[in-house]
Amino acid sequence: MAYQNLLSEVKDNILYIVINREKALNALNKETLQELADVIAFAEKNEEVRGVILTGAGEKAFVAGADIKEFSNYNGTQGEELARKGQENVFNAIENSSKLFIAAINGFALGGGLELAMACHIRIAADNAKLGLPEVTLGLIPGYGGTQRLTQLVGKGKAIELITTANAISAVEAEKIGLVNYTVPQADLINKAREILDIVKQRAPLAISAAIQAVNASINTDHGFETEIKAFGKCFETDDFKEGVTAFVEKRPAKFSGK
Ligand code: CAA
Repeated sequence: MAYQNLLSEVKDNILYIVINREKALNALNKETLQELADVIAFAEKNEEVRGVILTGAGEKAFVAGADIKEFSNYNGTQGEELARKGQENVFNAIENSSKLFIAAINGFALGGGLELAMACHIRIAADNAKLGLPEVTLGLIPGYGGTQRLTQLVGKGKAIELITTANAISAVEAEKIGLVNYTVPQADLINKAREILDIVKQRAPLAISAAIQAVNASINTDHGFETEIKAFGKCFETDDFKEGVTAFVEKRPAKFSGK
């Protein structure tokens, strides 16, 4: 698929998405959000895609937030619609995807940019990255799920501090508080993300999907344990389960079909 503001390529079962508005520090304008929604839907239905690496063009920014210039004249209704549509079509769609999304944070991840990274299942930061939610400097609050996901990831105390001060933190600090999984040199960023997906790719696809949904249910619903029980049961109905157990008994690597 050809996009105006994204580069995308499937290679060795990994979908690479690069947000490509380097001059605007990859800020999320309407068009980019729509293209992200489209490429996420593509990843979801494409069986070849086993995982996704999401990053920003250049070495300065992952994403510097929502495109401030676009919504400077918005009223309350438009603001609410922006947040609702963005959350549903992009941010929640990533979080609930059956494919594992890794954010490779190659520089500034601010506002909607950090929210995008937090919607991904795993975050890896380059050592030059700066992460923050500066919305209150604009008279706003995060609108793409930032108040919820930051709290889930780092706890209420740190989340309140980061959101109310608007202070950006370094990759090392972000790793210390659990906001990112790893900090690596910029040059190793994509390799580190690929290394994780190369492992995940060998696992059973339906089990990966079930694991993501069950973990999500622990924070987004009040029936996480029941979701796990049901998903666990469903796994027994899959060919992948039969193959996994047979391969174990036959002492060979499993060859999963995702069925
Ligand atoms: N929206 C639109 N354009 C942006 C942008 C954004 N979020 N961030 C940067 N840009 C543009 C700048 O306007 C500038 O464009 P021009 O050359 O045409 O003027 C270009 O990108 C380069 O930026 P700077 O010259 O500002 O670069 P810098 O190195 O001096 O500063 C920065 C970098 C600290 C990241 C600074 O650009 C900045 O503070 N950006 C805004 C960050 C922000 O407030 N993000 C939150 C947005 S609100 C939001 O996301 C709401 C939500 O939750 C839904």
